[in-house]
Amino acid sequence: MKILMVCLGNICRSPLAHGIMQHIVDEKKLNWEIDSAGTGDWHIGQAPDRRSIAVAKKYGVDISGQRAQHFTADLFAVYDKILVMDEQNYKDVLKLAKTDAERAKVSLFLADDIVPDPYFDDALFEPVYKMVYNRCLTLVDVFK
Ligand code: 4NP
Repeated sequence: MKILMVCLGNICRSPLAHGIMQHIVDEKKLNWEIDSAGTGDWHIGQAPDRRSIAVAKKYGVDISGQRAQHFTADLFAVYDKILVMDEQNYKDVLKLAKTDAERAKVSLFLADDIVPDPYFDDALFEPVYKMVYNRCLTLVDVFK
């Protein structure tokens, strides 16, 4: 199973989803490939936001080694599942899809809700961590 987590900047939400999912699949000894990307290109090559690094560290997940990459159409061929954090991410990713098979790979990470962008609100990092962690636990069972 190859899963790509996608948000806007690839520095706040998708690095958390990437790191948490990696942590869970490592614990379960699942040989899955997890990565993340952003629909925007402003932060390419940067480490995650320090607030995402801090909240993950608090719960024993190290995301400090991640580096942001831009979501590009070639990634459809690489991943089985492309999980996006909000409706805008969904639109931006679908714009780049060329086939129904590519479109079928894309879904909202939370299925019927969005992960709020914590970039402008320090208080959101903790609740975002928890909602992402809980969803990752569920997704591992769904995809297993
Ligand atoms: P993310 O949060 O999409 O969860 O990584 C953001 C990070 C940066 C910006 C917006 C959202 N930005 O505008 O630079």
